[in-house]
Amino acid sequence: MASGRFLVRSCLSPARRLANLPDMATYQDLDGATVLITGGANGIGEAMVRAFTKQGSTVFFCDFDGDAGSRLAKSTGATFTQVDLRNEQEVVDWVANAVFECGNIQVLINNAAKDPRIRIEEQTAEVWDDLMATNLRPHMLTAREAVPHMPEGASIVNFSSIVFELGMQPMTAYVSTKSAIQGFSRSLGRELGPKRIRVNSISPGWVMTERQKREFVTDETLVRLQNELQSIPDLIEPADVAEVALFLASRVSNVITGQEIVADHGWVHS
Ligand SMILES: NC(=O)c1ccc[n+]([C@@H]2O[C@H](COP(=O)([O-])OP(=O)(O)OC[C@H]3O[C@@H](n4cnc5c(N)ncnc54)[C@H](O)[C@@H]3O)[C@@H](O)[C@H]2O)c1
Repeated sequence: MASGRFLVRSCLSPARRLANLPDMATYQDLDGATVLITGGANGIGEAMVRAFTKQGSTVFFCDFDGDAGSRLAKSTGATFTQVDLRNEQEVVDWVANAVFECGNIQVLINNAAKDPRIRIEEQTAEVWDDLMATNLRPHMLTAREAVPHMPEGASIVNFSSIVFELGMQPMTAYVSTKSAIQGFSRSLGRELGPKRIRVNSISPGWVMTERQKREFVTDETLVRLQNELQSIPDLIEPADVAEVALFLASRVSNVITGQEIVADHGWVHS
């Protein structure tokens, strides 16, 4: 156990001890912090809503999945708003409501995205623009609305992906958005540095969300992932990525800005 301003405590829950995993770290500065998360109703977003509420943060999350969002709000005490992130006014109103309730914003996490597989011959301008409006433009909108209300020491975390490094196919539109998010994060990190607001991106590897398991995971892909692609032959759970987000959100990581944190069990750079 570390002492000082930012306590990092690690106590083992029975389930995680059996799995040989430490329980979630605790960051004192996240207790009471206002945290905004997009796409928080499912997958990695859901894990982050759970992780930040467990820290004692005041969590506002949005999603267009109203049923899952309402259920999660009920079980965590986080505040859910049904938002279509493609709609600028809905994004503006969502951020304004959090500011109205809490006065300022310590942490902004841009997580929501879609990852369609579309071959270049079948791509249309309309579908392309729609994905940019879903995956990329909301990062700008939420940051534009939140930054005036972010104090020194605040943190913005944007979700990219290792598909940028891998050039995965057939996903040109998705990979383009995830590449752009890295450029956006670096540039914004420079711009907000003088305000002492940090901006980083997380590039997860293959994370075993319910949707990934339902749509893409097979026995064969798992064997290849664990035995050939990743250095560490364990599956990545949404809670593992939420841990990285906690670290980047906390002032414990105050020297890190403008960086891509690759969370892939040692795949792309190993
Ligand atoms: N799961 C992985 O293996 C993986 C790998 C690399 C990167 N990522 C990135 O991590 C992030 C989370 O991915 P995930 O796997 O948890 O996804 P997911 O599909 O499980 O969850 C995404 C959430 O975003 C919401 N959403 C999508 N479009 C929206 C819109 N227009 N308005 C409001 N909400 C919207 C969805 O309803 C959903 O709840 C994404 O940015 C994704 O690109 C995931």
